[in-house]
Amino acid sequence: MGKSVHGFSKLSKLQKIDWLVTTFFNDNKKIKKVIQQYWNTNKVLQNLHDDFIENTISNFYMPFAVAPNFLINDKEYTIPMVIEESSVVAAASLVAKFWRTRGGFKAKVIATKKVGQVHFMYDGDKQKLQNYFSLKKKELFIATADITKNMRKRGGGILEIELRDKTEELANYYQLHVTFETVDSMGANFINSCLEAIAKEFENEAIKIVMSILSNYVPECLVHAEVSCKVDDLYAENSKVLAQKFIQAIQIANAEPHRAVTHNKGIMNGVDAVVLATGNDFRAIEAGAHAFAARNGKYKSLTNATIENGIFKFWIEIPLALGTVGGLTKLHPLSKLSLELLENPSAKELMEIIAVAGLAQNFAALRALTTTGIQKGHMKMHLTNIIKQLGASKEEKAFLIDYFEHKTVTHNAVVEAYKKLAKDK
Ligand code: MEV
Repeated sequence: MGKSVHGFSKLSKLQKIDWLVTTFFNDNKKIKKVIQQYWNTNKVLQNLHDDFIENTISNFYMPFAVAPNFLINDKEYTIPMVIEESSVVAAASLVAKFWRTRGGFKAKVIATKKVGQVHFMYDGDKQKLQNYFSLKKKELFIATADITKNMRKRGGGILEIELRDKTEELANYYQLHVTFETVDSMGANFINSCLEAIAKEFENEAIKIVMSILSNYVPECLVHAEVSCKVDDLYAENSKVLAQKFIQAIQIANAEPHRAVTHNKGIMNGVDAVVLATGNDFRAIEAGAHAFAARNGKYKSLTNATIENGIFKFWIEIPLALGTVGGLTKLHPLSKLSLELLENPSAKELMEIIAVAGLAQNFAALRALTTTGIQKGHMKMHLTNIIKQLGASKEEKAFLIDYFEHKTVTHNAVVEAYKKLAKDK
């Protein structure tokens, strides 16, 4: 009681903030300042952001960075990344440089089929349903003709509508399983509009529609990216042994889901960062990628590696339903800029770029984990973050970085060293 509210969405932005600060915080002025300091002084831009969602009170900044020097299918890319995790962009840049001297990344889209389903209940004769579907199928395409008109002009549309019997899984449950080609758009609105029109046309007294919605499981919207080089070119020393360890790291991920989840999380560090930067839906990508990793009944690595005839090959296969038109892609000025930076790729090309970003992160993680360990690099970034928080001067920063070169970085240790430095002055 006292902390609930009616008609909140009808309040003005300032009224919403007033309600929040007086209801949940003590120092009203300070909290208001924190919220308002992230408002953009450019009113047009702020209004744009306000209107993306409901009840906007401020903006939540994320770092927007770029990782240069990627060579993908012999084309140079500087990849935009939006991510808060300190080591991800540095890792991407290092790996990009590493592989550009070894032929770069090769990537290829395998398929671009998207899926939507009309889920319904039917308690009658199966053959009758099959006959009804066969008779009705043409009309289902006609019912969506207006919606698909523009998409068909661009080379997309509905590829197929199938009736699927799911009664083994759930009594009386059937579905219309619909496949789509949405060309350069992610196509969520398009797919859902088509499905609702199909459902309306298909429904009758005996067919009870439950829901119509796209699926984020898109194993046939798949991209492959890879790198390869001579095993001897992989590491400065001990290359054969370390390459073998790298392969074992993937085998461990395939054998042990606890490890596979972390392994794939590292891949998603790269994938999500570019998905976000280009205004795509990272939740859809995450859900689809993890489901794909478990497609054979056991959660496994999204990457693979082999050593054959002295050649190390490392690759990823990942489903990515992306768009380069529609949605937020051209609406958010920074997504638009990201796509321009990538020279306005098609959705297919963006799939290739993002698969490479994921592969690069996994390469960086496995190389670090099987050699020096991950903490060395992480702690270096952690140290600079702590130094920043302490408000150290340029000289103090240089001293502390030098001081911790061969010491273990903990928050406490850095604070103590900083205090001592100030005292000794
Ligand atoms: C951290 O964000 C990602 C890693 O844990 C990935 C991995 O362990 O492979 C380093």
